[in-house]
Amino acid sequence: MLVLGIETSCDETAAAVVDASARRILSTVLYSQIKEHATYQGVIPEIASRAHLERLPHLMEQALAEASVQPRQLDAIAATTGPGLTTALMMGSTYAKTLALALGKPFLATNHIEGHALSPHLTDPALTFPYLLLLVSGGHTQVVMVHTPGHYEMLGTTVDDAAGECFDKTGKLLGLPHPAGPAIEQLAKQGNPDAIALPFPKNDGSLDFSFSGLKTAVRDIVTTTPHLVPADLAASFQHRVATIFAKKCGLALTQTKAPTLVAAGGVAANQAIRHALAETCHAHGATFSAPPPSLCTDNAAMIAYAAGLRHLNRLETGGLATPVRPRWPLNETAAS
Ligand code: KG4
Ligand code: ZN
Repeated sequence: MLVLGIETSCDETAAAVVDASARRILSTVLYSQIKEHATYQGVIPEIASRAHLERLPHLMEQALAEASVQPRQLDAIAATTGPGLTTALMMGSTYAKTLALALGKPFLATNHIEGHALSPHLTDPALTFPYLLLLVSGGHTQVVMVHTPGHYEMLGTTVDDAAGECFDKTGKLLGLPHPAGPAIEQLAKQGNPDAIALPFPKNDGSLDFSFSGLKTAVRDIVTTTPHLVPADLAASFQHRVATIFAKKCGLALTQTKAPTLVAAGGVAANQAIRHALAETCHAHGATFSAPPPSLCTDNAAMIAYAAGLRHLNRLETGGLATPVRPRWPLNETAAS
């Protein structure tokens, strides 16, 4: 099943062609708007929407050309319809709907988080359902039991900031460019992860996360330490986040007895975090799987694949009349 996927939920404009039945990416192309938002230290919706509109036609042509696929050969067109920035979502989904209408193909309305949740199948042929998912991105921090496509059981989430937000705010305090996750990972390589003592959220036995204490501690240290070594703070912060994830995932593996832990979302691109999670899995006799970093951060291959898999499993996929849904929890992806 050949699916053209379009992703415009935030500041990446992306297109991809995926063979969903064969779990194969035929092409995946992306334009990152990072530079356009850099001076604002955050994503400006109007700038994002305009950039999506300008870049989409070329990216879509590029994705089709690289896949050597003609538009008429496509079985469906998918786009992210939520969660995300309303106007940004509207750009990609309206573009995809227009294309679907012109080509007489079905339009598949796709949940961005479900894209992240199912993306590991594209690169790990051994991965089977069920699995425990740690989804950590700029907007989400969730522990989810993925039973089958369309059946997601939420076990824990953040009570305050998302993990990626915490990386980005720490980076801002250190004067690093937004989004700061990759820059913190680079800086941390020259630092000592044990140099600065950072708080560990109190263990309440739940699978929920809280990053507010860590965030406050980092801010206090940056503003009160006279000769702060930024690399030591980056390394200590990254190490603390990795240990928080490892601890919670260890607890979730014990509670659910899941055979596999999967990490996905932008923060899962971080090698120190992946290493800590792999160690936890080893200690629990579970398998660890994570897509390559380029598939952890936002991309359209995951959107095309999630849409195709839902279609192949005869799950609800919406249609031309489906509106964008800026807030759309994973466990509300309707199954029919
Ligand atoms: O999944 P994603 O690309 O977009 C969302 O759906 O949010 O995640 C973006 C987030 C940003 O907060 C970014 O700083 C973080 O992922 N990130 C990282 C790394 N690469 C991206 N955080 C830590 N280490 C990284 N290598
Ligand atoms: Zn994402």
